[in-house]
Amino acid sequence: MVAIQGKAVVVTGGRRGLGAALVDEVLARGAAKVYSTGRSAFSDDRPAVVPHALDVRSAESVAALARTAADAEIVFNNAGILLPGPLLTGDFGDITETFDINVFGPLRVARAFAPILAANGGGALVNMHSVLSWLGGAGAYGASKAAIWSATNSLRSELAAQGTQVLGVHAGFIDTDMVSSMAADKTSPAEVARRIVDGVEDGALEVLADDISVGVKAALSGPVEKLFVALPV
Ligand SMILES: NC(=O)c1ccc[n+]([C@@H]2O[C@H](COP(=O)([O-])OP(=O)(O)OC[C@H]3O[C@@H](n4cnc5c(N)ncnc54)[C@H](OP(=O)(O)O)[C@@H]3O)[C@@H](O)[C@H]2O)c1
Repeated sequence: MVAIQGKAVVVTGGRRGLGAALVDEVLARGAAKVYSTGRSAFSDDRPAVVPHALDVRSAESVAALARTAADAEIVFNNAGILLPGPLLTGDFGDITETFDINVFGPLRVARAFAPILAANGGGALVNMHSVLSWLGGAGAYGASKAAIWSATNSLRSELAAQGTQVLGVHAGFIDTDMVSSMAADKTSPAEVARRIVDGVEDGALEVLADDISVGVKAALSGPVEKLFVALPV
């Protein structure tokens, strides 16, 4: 349970999409400072926002963010990519890129910030999964989100001794650039951000951000062939 008021917060991928909504939400709840990242340098007029260039594929880039954000108390591992393509015939470089950004990226961030969170009182680490962590049919993206879901659950145990709250988030379609080409019902980034930040402040270990995530989680004990979705790409 970590109150946002007065905290220093990191949001990877905070320049746009869900990350931008998370930045807005923590500022609205009184965050003292928000380190918000994009892959290239950018500006933000709000005095509490510290824009920072970050590529989660690079350990050096993550280390530079950690040096700048040494006062961080809450870290949102939000940055991610979706490169559509089948596992068997899709570009193999897209598959390794997806894992580098969606799995090894947040793991690099977690490793760099674990000692910082410990030094600053424990705090919270939030990892973005997806409803596709649980459903086949989304190729490398779904596989990467299954992997980061598993990593989150292990990190929760590894970080327990230092008192860090580790929260994993599952969501269906969110209305951002990532899925702009897909026709589907989408939840607004602001609504998802509100539910995630509620989870941080309530001490939750998991946030199911929409009805689809609640329904699919409930179906996990059912037949495996039902755990499939064809992405509307
Ligand atoms: N949209 C959905 O339907 C949905 C559903 C469930 C889960 N999610 C997850 O929610 C998170 C946010 O997604 P979104 O929909 O907001 O996506 P988005 O609109 O495409 O934004 C992605 C963000 O990630 C950043 N990013 C991409 N590659 C990066 C890299 N190598 N290093 C650092 N930052 C990088 C981007 O930075 P730039 O600004 O520099 O491009 C951007 O800020 C992702 O983890 C995604 O998988 C999304």
